[in-house]
Amino acid sequence: MEVTILVGSQWGDEGKGKIVDILSNKFDIVARYQGGANAGHTIVIKDKQYILHLIPSGILRKDVTCVIGNGVVIDPVALLDEIHFLESQNINITGRLLISQNAHLIMPYHKLLDSLKEGTDKIGTTGRGIGPCYIDKYARKGIRIVDLLNKEDLEKKIRRNLEEKNNLLKKVYYHEELDVDAIVKEYLAFDEAIDPYIADVSTYLNNQILAGKNVLMEGAQGALLDVDFGTYPYVTSSNPTSGGASTGTGIPPTKITSVIGIVKAYTTRVGNGPFPTELFDADGEKLRKVGAEFGATTGRPRRCGWFDAELLKYSRMINGIERAAITKLDVLGSFDKIKVCVGYELNGKKLHTFPTDIVRMEKVTPIYEILPGWNTDISNARSYDDLPSEAKNYLDFISEHSGFEISIISVGPKRVQTIEL
Ligand code: GDP
Ligand code: IMO
Ligand code: MG
Repeated sequence: MEVTILVGSQWGDEGKGKIVDILSNKFDIVARYQGGANAGHTIVIKDKQYILHLIPSGILRKDVTCVIGNGVVIDPVALLDEIHFLESQNINITGRLLISQNAHLIMPYHKLLDSLKEGTDKIGTTGRGIGPCYIDKYARKGIRIVDLLNKEDLEKKIRRNLEEKNNLLKKVYYHEELDVDAIVKEYLAFDEAIDPYIADVSTYLNNQILAGKNVLMEGAQGALLDVDFGTYPYVTSSNPTSGGASTGTGIPPTKITSVIGIVKAYTTRVGNGPFPTELFDADGEKLRKVGAEFGATTGRPRRCGWFDAELLKYSRMINGIERAAITKLDVLGSFDKIKVCVGYELNGKKLHTFPTDIVRMEKVTPIYEILPGWNTDISNARSYDDLPSEAKNYLDFISEHSGFEISIISVGPKRVQTIEL
C-alpha cells in the first residue's frame, strides 16, 4: 500500500501532469484534491498532447481509476467538455471516474465575479471562478455536487444565491443581472450527465487503501500559490501544499506514505506577485522560448527566472518533500553560465527565514552562485550516465541547497524523456 502526494513545489506548471502520467503505471488510483479548471496539466504520449484541467492525469492509463476529491471546485461545463474530449480520443472513462458528492460547483456568477473582481490590484487569476466559488464554500452558501441529485432543493439554492449575486452585480459592479431561469435550467440538466460519476469518495478511497491499493494524489498549482503559505494575496484560493491532500480527499495523514515534489529546473510564474529571481533580459526570453513557457489554461506568457533554492527549502519544509522530480532540465541546455539563488538579502542582511509577506518578498535581493552550463542538447539522455558532468553538478548543487533527494529527471515532455534514479 502506497499513498503518495505529488505537489507542485514552486508557482505551478512544474510538469506535474507529465510526472503523474509517468508514475501512474505503478498506482491504482489517481486523485485530485484541490483547485479546479484553473489547472492545466499537460501529458504528451508519442506525438499527441493532452491538456487536462479537472480530470486527474492518470486517466490516460486504462487501468487507473481517477477521483476528484471534495476539495476540488468543479465547473460542470469544463468537466463535461473534458469528458467529451476524452471520449473523442477513444479514452474510455466508464467506471473510471469518481467525483466527490461534497465537491463544490462553480456557477456562472463565480466566473463573472472572478473577472469583475480583477479590476484594480489585479492578481491575474485564470478567470475560472475559483476564488468566488471557495468564498461561497467558506461562507456556507455553496452548491455542491450532491445538490444536483435533489432538483427541488437545487433550484431553491440557485434562486437564493442568484438573488444575492444579482444584487451585488447591479449595485457594486453596475453590471447587468444574470438570467435566473436560464441558469436554473442549465444546472438542473447537469444531473443526468454527472450522476454516473457521483460517489462517496472518502469512503471509497479509505476502503481501497485498506484493500492494499496504491493511491497517487495529484496536486494542482504549487506551494507558493497556497492561500496559507504562498505569496498572499497573489495566490490561489486553495491549499496545493501536501496538507491539502488530506482535507481535500478524506484520506487521513496517518495513511500518507510519501510526498514527491515536482521541481522545475528554473522558475516560472503566471499572473502577478513577487518573484525574486525573475529575469527581464535575454536569458529570461530564452527560457520562455526554449521552455515554451506559455500557460496551458490561459495561453499567457509565463514569467521566467533562475532556480531559487531558498524558495525550494521553504517549499520542502511546508510540504515535507522527501524526493523530487526535476523537470525541464533540457531547457537549460544552451546557457554558458547558469545562476542559482542560494539565499535572500534584505537591507544588506541575509534573511534566515523565508519571507511570505509580499512587502519583504518584493524587496529581497537574491544571492546568486554561478554554475557552468553544459551547452549541449540533453533531450536524448536516457540514463543518468548520459548527462554531461556540468548537468550532474547542477543537479547535485540544487538538491544539496534545497535539501531534497532527486528521484526523477525529466529532459523533455515525452514519456521516454524521463530518467528514473
Ligand atoms: P503542470 O501544470 O505542472 O502539469 O505543467 P504544465 O503542463 O502546465 O507545463 C509544463 C509544460 O512543460 C508542458 O508543456 C509539458 O509538456 C512540458 N514539459 C514537462 N516536462 C518537460 C521537460 O522535462 N522538458 C521540456 N522541455 N518540457 C517539459
Ligand atoms: P497548474 O495546476 C500556474 C495562478 C494564476 C494567478 C493565481 C490565482 O497548471 O500548475 P486563480 O485562477 O487560481 O484564482 O489564480 O494563481 N494559477 C496558476 N499558475 N499554474 C496553475 O495551475 C495555476 N492555477 C492558478 O495565474 O496568478
Ligand atoms: Mg499547468
